[in-house]
Amino acid sequence: MKKLVFLTGAGVSAESGIKTFRDSDGLWENYNVEEVASIDGWYRNPRLMVQFYNERRRQLKDAQPNEAHRIIGELESDFDVTVVTQNVDNLHERGGSTDVIHLHGELTKVCSERGKKCVEDIGYREFEYGERAADGQLLRPFIVWFGEEVPLLSKAAEVIEHADILVIIGTSLNVYPAAGLLYYAPSNCPIYLIDPKEVQPVTRRIEFIRATATEGMRILKEKLLTCK
Ligand code: OAD
Repeated sequence: MKKLVFLTGAGVSAESGIKTFRDSDGLWENYNVEEVASIDGWYRNPRLMVQFYNERRRQLKDAQPNEAHRIIGELESDFDVTVVTQNVDNLHERGGSTDVIHLHGELTKVCSERGKKCVEDIGYREFEYGERAADGQLLRPFIVWFGEEVPLLSKAAEVIEHADILVIIGTSLNVYPAAGLLYYAPSNCPIYLIDPKEVQPVTRRIEFIRATATEGMRILKEKLLTCK
């Protein structure tokens, strides 16, 4: 089976009603990224961060995977699929994907403030600032914030190095190191990019499908199945 790798961002979940970050009504229009998505923000105002991620978790509970998530899941019948996602939602898994690398963490998990140990699955439960992890340290969201290392980066790079086909969906490619991952794809690996808007120039040869994630995946599915 060919190795098919997806590199996804907020746009793949947009049609499930989850806001992207940098679009005109995106999350970073209403929140200060430094306050709610950086490690400095956590040290300055952890209560605000807990509240922000509780709110995101509450929204996720009511969101459903869309057709793009489901097509990606179904492609496991014909390809060896890995999804590398910047998203912290669980819609890829709920759409049927079984091998998902969450570069930026997971909303439904919390961990110890020190060293991000004692990872705990809390589902959609809200947690309060002051709750303790099994090691006695404060619990925090299991999210990779600006200013923190990306622990799964080298695992993701290795997967992309072995890709036969790479598909990028719904990411503005603004945030590094995730945005640099596409350069790990072998030189003979076709790269497709699905996005309804122009994405900042990338120097690799890419076939651009200007469409939403669901429209784009419908089109691409047919192409992929002819070259499996
Ligand atoms: P962005 O908000 O930067 O980019 C979203 C992309 O999705 C844009 O290129 C949109 O044009 C596209 N888009 C919008 N609607 C779409 C649809 N229906 N179908 C397909 N694409 C659509 O989000 P990311 O690139 O994912 O990190 O952001 C990367 C990281 O920045 C996030 O993981 C998050 C954020 O700060 C952290 O918080 C650490």
